[in-house]
Amino acid sequence: MLETRTLCKNFGALEVARELNFRLERGARHALIGPNGAGKTTFINLLTGLLAPSRGSVFLGGEEVTTLTQAKRVKRGIARTFQINQLFRGLTVLENVCIAVSERLGVGSSMLRPAGKRAEVIDEASRLIAMLKLDEDAGRRIVELPYGRQRLVEIAIALGLQPSVLLLDEPAAGIPSAESHILLDAIATLPRDIAILIIEHDMDLVFRFAERITVMVSGAIYAEGKPAEIAANREVRAVYLGNAA
Ligand SMILES: Nc1ncnc2c1ncn2[C@@H]1O[C@H](COP(=O)(O)OP(=O)(O)OP(=O)(O)O)[C@@H](O)[C@H]1O
Ligand SMILES: [Mg+2]
Repeated sequence: MLETRTLCKNFGALEVARELNFRLERGARHALIGPNGAGKTTFINLLTGLLAPSRGSVFLGGEEVTTLTQAKRVKRGIARTFQINQLFRGLTVLENVCIAVSERLGVGSSMLRPAGKRAEVIDEASRLIAMLKLDEDAGRRIVELPYGRQRLVEIAIALGLQPSVLLLDEPAAGIPSAESHILLDAIATLPRDIAILIIEHDMDLVFRFAERITVMVSGAIYAEGKPAEIAANREVRAVYLGNAA
């Protein structure tokens, strides 16, 4: 679904992406791990087009998207959530998800007045809200929700774009561990036609969720494989999993 070839990014003298050759397979449940400052968020920013690479290329579904804007990549199927959540805090859950669905359908602000597409938008938004088990919160404003539920709303919004690729940057950050398991379980049960790449520091969550793991250290891919391979890799354990192990 998504591939990078010799993707590089420098911030001045700092190389934050070093010749990254990466593949996200169709339907993947893939985790990207690595120490703070390894370049994980930068990598996602390069995939989505928030940042332009210094060198190398990005392909989505076999087509090169390296120079496309973020908006164009979203239309081609890349959706993301951010490490810090970004929602319309004064609006309800339903309204937030409706905005995303309206955008995709190209009906924009018609949500704000009665219009032909309105029922369609609300139906689809309600379906996504149900998929993430947010039904009870649909009419609540974002500010009234605990943080863990807010992160679920962000995922519902990303799904409103009908992505083929979903990039999640630390979706469980700042959530108590009991709730973070609920969140990851919700992500794990998303439709299999969506390829998911998740950045996560909690190794318990990573190993429950991921079918493939990439370890990034100092801007480079240090190791990649099935969870059992990563867990058994002595160097990875030494460099990164040491504390957790
Ligand atoms: N816009 C920028 N300008 C300069 N340096 C940057 C910029 N963005 C990130 N960096 C640096 O690039 C490196 C990689 O940062 P990045 O945020 O990608 O790491 P990360 O792996 O996501 O870390 P964390 O686990 O803490 O979220 C860090 O040294 C960071 O300080
Ligand atoms: Mg980060």
